[in-house]
Amino acid sequence: MPDGIAYGGDWNPEQWPEETWEQDVALMREAGVNRVSVGIFSWSSLEPVEGVFDFGWFDRVMDLLAENGIGANLATPTASPPPWFSDPYPQALPVDADGRRLYHGSRQGFCPSSPIYREKALRVAEQVALRYRDHPALVLWHVHNEYGCHNARCYCDTSAAAFRDWLRSRYGTLDALNDAWGTAFWSQRYSDWAQILPPRATPSLPNPAQQLDFRRFSSDALIELYVAERDLLKRLTPDVPATTNLMAGAHWDMDCWAFAAETDVVSTDHYLIGARRERHIDLAFAADYARSLGGGRPWLLMEHSTSAVNWQPRNLAKTPGELRRNSLTHLARGADGIMFFQWRQSRSGAEKWHSAMLPHAGTDTKIWREVAALGAELAALADVAGSTVKADVALLLDHSSVWAQDHPAQPTAELDPVEEAKRWHAALWRAGVTCDLAHPEGDLTGYRLVVVPQLYLVSDAGAANLEEFARRGGTVVVGPYSGIVDEHDRVRLGGYPGAWRDLLGVSAEEFFPLDEPIRLASGATGSVWSEAARVTTAKVLDTYATGEPAWTRNEFGDGAAHYLTTLLDDAALAEVLATACREAGVCAVAASVAGVEVVRRSHPDGRSFLFAINHTTEDAAVTTPEGGTVTVAAGDAVVIPG
Ligand code: GAL
Repeated sequence: MPDGIAYGGDWNPEQWPEETWEQDVALMREAGVNRVSVGIFSWSSLEPVEGVFDFGWFDRVMDLLAENGIGANLATPTASPPPWFSDPYPQALPVDADGRRLYHGSRQGFCPSSPIYREKALRVAEQVALRYRDHPALVLWHVHNEYGCHNARCYCDTSAAAFRDWLRSRYGTLDALNDAWGTAFWSQRYSDWAQILPPRATPSLPNPAQQLDFRRFSSDALIELYVAERDLLKRLTPDVPATTNLMAGAHWDMDCWAFAAETDVVSTDHYLIGARRERHIDLAFAADYARSLGGGRPWLLMEHSTSAVNWQPRNLAKTPGELRRNSLTHLARGADGIMFFQWRQSRSGAEKWHSAMLPHAGTDTKIWREVAALGAELAALADVAGSTVKADVALLLDHSSVWAQDHPAQPTAELDPVEEAKRWHAALWRAGVTCDLAHPEGDLTGYRLVVVPQLYLVSDAGAANLEEFARRGGTVVVGPYSGIVDEHDRVRLGGYPGAWRDLLGVSAEEFFPLDEPIRLASGATGSVWSEAARVTTAKVLDTYATGEPAWTRNEFGDGAAHYLTTLLDDAALAEVLATACREAGVCAVAASVAGVEVVRRSHPDGRSFLFAINHTTEDAAVTTPEGGTVTVAAGDAVVIPG
């Protein structure tokens, strides 16, 4: 990425008469914008009729950017095929699980496995690349847009055939597939590959392993499309980095770990959910996730909003200062670019009520003033670019596990692995502890503490990885309903949690979901879940009224592993995590002050930036790690270079 912090948003000039474009770039300069994403939804303007291209107008857009020193995240416009696509090729439209074919008139109206879609997408991407490969405005390829946002799974016949190919290469033989899917159950044994379908609507519960593999296949199918476009672009522009905007932490259909590995720089979009309590902590989770997806490298926030979005039941406008706090949180947690959807608020179309950098009301507005002020502030923080965030704690998260647990037949419908991961992350946030997310099979060396809020499915390699981490001296905290099944969603037998009985020194024989919270011996509350467990080698730290263990700790190798058999209330969970942090020697970045977020970014040469962001309505005194005190006014944020 270039020097300094990238700042800007999606610019959709095709939605406006050309007279506004000069004004747009003049205002971009006024706001400190140095980067825009262009061409994302331009397919029908660039190729108005199949095979007929019109680049004249887009040449002027790109030239204007270059003349004004604004870089382009140049999109391939493949996220929204034009109406000319669906008419002659209806078989390339997506089909849902009930067999309904979806029509054009929105976006992402294509089947990810359609060869026709792929052909047309690669053709337009190639035309864009050939035209602009030497253009001075081109900085980064923005491939497609939010893969899988609307068409993550297609159930059509083409997808069925592609699914079978994917299964053939995964399992080799039908016997292996039958075994992995447990098809002896309910007489589902396959005698011919042709019998295998996507998990279309069925009379009763679908086969869990089939459903899980279909989610894996569907994610892979979209990643494959990205890779096809990326490879084409790389052939024509080997030195231009390529990315696509993920939806890390918000949408769970795409395997972000696998996807991020294919990008040159991780980029992601993030939108606040208005209904969430402490939505700034949710934001921090997404930012930590984005950083972790790139192994800690700086990443790019491709989209967020200046104020309200348009797709929630009640779209909350941001309060004064919230836009700045949100942006600085992303920056603090490793972003080297802060971008928005979108530059100019639309006049027509489905997103006209979505906020933008330049609102309907123009420049004499709160939003515009905040946008311009942020641009100036980010320019002054140019030296932050390239610095990284160090975390001593990792939280394990895997899409396969989330997908497997999504099957409707569970001991309780009330366990939610994503919410639980966010709750544990929030407890660490409140304690001022910076936390990475990690794939269960990822590299855990370098961490002191690994937490596993709810990892229902874990592969043998993932199970061994965590054990090895503890054996080498790490501290582990595992929450309930973790380590229960293998990669095919088959129960690990002999007592729960089968993957980690030795590590935890605990074995459970039966689950007892709770209809009401219960009181533990310590006075803490457990809810949603409990289990009948007995310790083998662990010590019991808290119990149910029955005397059965609720919190245990087991010495393992040179390390130790805690286990929770219920969902502890927030305060008790914080206490368990604080205990584990103390044991592991994990410290807060600065002594924690309620509602104040403190994160540090550092360069290898020792230069650092301490971000302190006050999310409360009271001024706060923050003690820096160096021993000084800084007052951060209510709703304000400071960045202290060190
Ligand atoms: C994103 C998308 C943008 C815009 C935005 C609205 O999902 O990439 O194009 O639709 O949401 O919040």
